[in-house]
Parts: sequence; C-alpha cells; structure tokens
Amino acid sequence: MKKLFPSYVRVPLIFAIVFGGMEYFIDSGDKPAFIEYPMVSVFLFVFLFLLVAIEIVVSAVDRVTYHLLTDEQRKQLEEAQSVSFTDSKFVQNLLSKLTRSKPIEQEGELMLDHDYDGIKELDNVLPPWWVNLFYATIIFGVIYLVRFHVMDAYTQAEEFEQEVQLANAELEKMKANSPKEEITLDKVVMLTDEASLAKGKEIFTNACAACHKADGGGIVGPNLTDEFWINGGGIKNVFKLISEGSKNNPSMVAWNKTLESTDIQKVASYVLSLQGTKPAGAKPAEGEKWVEEAAPAETTATATDTLKVAVK
Ligand code: HEC
Repeated sequence: MKKLFPSYVRVPLIFAIVFGGMEYFIDSGDKPAFIEYPMVSVFLFVFLFLLVAIEIVVSAVDRVTYHLLTDEQRKQLEEAQSVSFTDSKFVQNLLSKLTRSKPIEQEGELMLDHDYDGIKELDNVLPPWWVNLFYATIIFGVIYLVRFHVMDAYTQAEEFEQEVQLANAELEKMKANSPKEEITLDKVVMLTDEASLAKGKEIFTNACAACHKADGGGIVGPNLTDEFWINGGGIKNVFKLISEGSKNNPSMVAWNKTLESTDIQKVASYVLSLQGTKPAGAKPAEGEKWVEEAAPAETTATATDTLKVAVK
C-alpha cells in the first residue's frame, strides 16, 4: 500500500496537531502558551527535531532494505505500493463488514423467483451499518423516554433558566472586571440626585472653596452662583472648563489629572445647583449672561437616567 501522506505533509501536520493541542490544553491567559512558558517552546523545538530525525532514519532504513531485497521481492513490494488506499485490504474488509453486499458475480444466488415482465428482484440483506443505527435510535428513544417522561429529569424550561443564570453570572464577572465608567464631554449630563450632589459638595469644599468660597460666591475665582459666565454656562461648558482648566487664567487648573471624570461631573452638577443662591458678599458678575438653549428637561437627569439621555 502507498503511504497515505508524503513526509513533507506528514511532518508539518503532526507538528501542527501537537502544537494546537498544547495551546488548547495549557491555560496561559491572553498570551500563547509557547510565549508564556519557555519550556513549551523548548519541548516543541525538540519534538520537531525528533520528528524530522525519525523521518530521515525511516527513509534511510527503507532505502537500505530495498537494496538487500531480491528482484522478486522488489517486484512484490512495488506491486503492493501501487495499490491505492481505497483498494487496500483493510478498507475492502471494512466496507464488506459494513454493507455485507455480495459481489456482482454472485448476485445470481440472491435472485428471487418473481419475474415481473422480465424485471427480476434481488434479495439483498439490509446493510449492517443501517440496521445497527436503527437499533441505536431505539435504545436512545427508550432511555430518553424513561429519563424525561417517566423520571421527569428536567424540562426545557429549567434548562433555559439554568443557561440564563450562567449567562448572568458571566455578565456580573465581566462587569466586575471592566474598567470604571468614563464620562466624556458628549456624554455628560447634569446630575440632580442627592447622593451625587452631596459628593459634588464634598469635592467642592475640599478642592475649590479656597478660590471660589465655600458658598461659591468667589474669592480669587469668579462668582459661580450667578447667571454670568466667563467661559460659558451649562453642564457641558462647566464640565469642560473644570476638566481642562481655563485658558485665560492658569490658576484655574485642569482637574482631569486629579479627579475622576465621574467626580468632575458631580462637582460640575453641584456648581450648577448653586445657581441663584445669591450668597452674601458674593463677587460682582463677570463674563456674559448664559441662556440655556436646549429645553432644561433634556439636559438634567439623575444618575440612573444618564444612559438614557446619552442615547437620545
Ligand atoms: C487656585 C484657585 C482656584 C481653584 C482651587 C479652583 N478654581 Fe475655578 N477658577 C479660578 C479662576 C481664577 C477662574 C477664572 C478663570 C477664567 O477667567 O477663565 C476659575 C473659573 C472657574 C469656573 C468657570 C467660571 C466662569 O465664569 O466661566 C468654574 C466652573 C470653576 N472655576 C470651578 C472650579 C471647581 C469645580 C474647582 C474645584 C475642583 C475649582 N474651580 C478650583 C480659580 C480656582
């Protein structure tokens, strides 16, 4: 029989299977196993070397034995090698076991007595592969019936529930691992819930009151409680200015290096919540009067509404 694959196919194929198997079974995180564990690389290298060495030795031995054969043996060998894989004894035996078909010369033995206007009928046996498959389905059916209809193992609905639970668990795990939510300029909306404003007030008292006064009336920094803004009012302008700092006056620094974007959103919302409080001793107005263009209902939202509004 001919060899199934030539060696230049066989070697890469076996190597690829072993390589794939190692990558599949060795848990190495994001990186491939042969980079994560140098021993794997060493093993693969040695394995490849051995494969090539074995091929070389086998073909050398083949060549030597060929020279030692008598002429008759060589002829036999060549004949055997010229038979293709599908004509080989092994495949032929397997096929006849699976089909139990009679060779065409012996079909006469199967002929039935009927003769329909010259059309004759053969009495072939059912092929064993088919009969056995049929028995297997019967056995499967009985086991299925007893398990799910007599013993009530689990229903499809329960199976579905279980899948959903698994998926939810995966989702929770993913959420826990994913980085914190980032608020960007186009996503930012004003927060009005108490918790966010309280957090905003805390940040303001610690970081901003020194220049803007605890009540926002202004000292070095301008009054934040009136409708007049140097850099524009509204949540987007205020968020942007606190994040990036003022270009006119370097004492108002960019806070995005010290504060999380979610905290800047809170403190910006708190600043805007001071509108119209008119604290005593506030600085006179600076800048221009700000008129909100969009309908106020659109630009304000609670923390839980953030996503909805941002999608709009
Ligand atoms: C070192 C002093 C200083 C600190 C601290 C400071 N600011 Fe300012 N802030 C200023 C000055 C000065 C301006 C005026 C900038 C300008 O003229 O553009 C300003 C401007 C602003 C404006 C824009 C006002 C307008 O009319 O456009 C906002 C809003 C603001 N600050 C909020 C904050 C917040 C929130 C914090 C705390 C996280 C903070 N500031 C901390 C000095 C400060």
